[in-house]
Amino acid sequence: MSTVRPGRVGPQRGVPVEIVRPEYAATGHPRHAGDPGPLDAATLARMRRACRAAAAVLAEIGPLVAPGVTTDSIDAATHAAYLARGGYPSTLNYHGFPKSLCTSVNEVVCHGIPDDRRLQEGDIVNLDVTVYLEGVHGDCSATYAVGRIDAESERLVRVTRECLDRGIAAVRPGRPIADIGRAIEPFAREHGYGVVRNYGGHGIGTAFHTGLHVPHHIEPRASTLMRPGMVFTIEPMLTMGTHETLEWPDGWTVVTADGRRSAQFEHTVLVTEAGVEILTR
Ligand code: MF3
Ligand code: CO
Ligand code: CO
Repeated sequence: MSTVRPGRVGPQRGVPVEIVRPEYAATGHPRHAGDPGPLDAATLARMRRACRAAAAVLAEIGPLVAPGVTTDSIDAATHAAYLARGGYPSTLNYHGFPKSLCTSVNEVVCHGIPDDRRLQEGDIVNLDVTVYLEGVHGDCSATYAVGRIDAESERLVRVTRECLDRGIAAVRPGRPIADIGRAIEPFAREHGYGVVRNYGGHGIGTAFHTGLHVPHHIEPRASTLMRPGMVFTIEPMLTMGTHETLEWPDGWTVVTADGRRSAQFEHTVLVTEAGVEILTR
């Protein structure tokens, strides 16, 4: 099972002047968003379109995953796919992030930077797509198998996908955000997996990350009640061993502390009167 090492990161890709940029695009510093609560109908309508675009980009780039393909070439395709829809790559210069996509291979938990590493048969890779369109962000991700993968990795990916589904099914107006982690962590642990705590889901809208944090583990302090019109992501990261993480010296790449594999899936969801609607479809 190969260990991931930092590769060479190419230059930032350009964005045509006619594409509308988020507030941090030039400076790298997002404004402090707070937790805006439920979105109004007009913002929600924009959110639906941005999220649908993010889902469409992910559907477009997923099939590019194959042995021998560099993560930077997937970044190039993703960048072009955002621009083709009139969108800006939300990650580009977000707190200085250098690329248009996050690519997290094997023991990389999240925030992997696309580089010149070629995907190898047996790897798993999460592609995390976020687009800024019509003044709002849409965010989703999925983990893909590179060629044939071992049964253990396949099980990790399958259980992680199911954890996302269970987290989404726990979304109900009037219930606390903590219900989401309560639906995810016991199920993950039954399968022998860890649930990453250092990173979680987040409120999203005109800001990429609002002040609302969505834990995927059991966290009774996540007492904010879900209300119709609230939009946030659910994006559980499961690990084969410890849930503890380390960060590479690049200041971005998050890896498992024990080097064992991790998988992740993400949707942006809307709390409705009836329950939940997945926006990144
Ligand atoms: N898309 C990631 C998330 O799900 C955030 C990536 S931020 C970056 O929240 F700066 F690392 F790109
Ligand atoms: Co994401
Ligand atoms: Co997210």
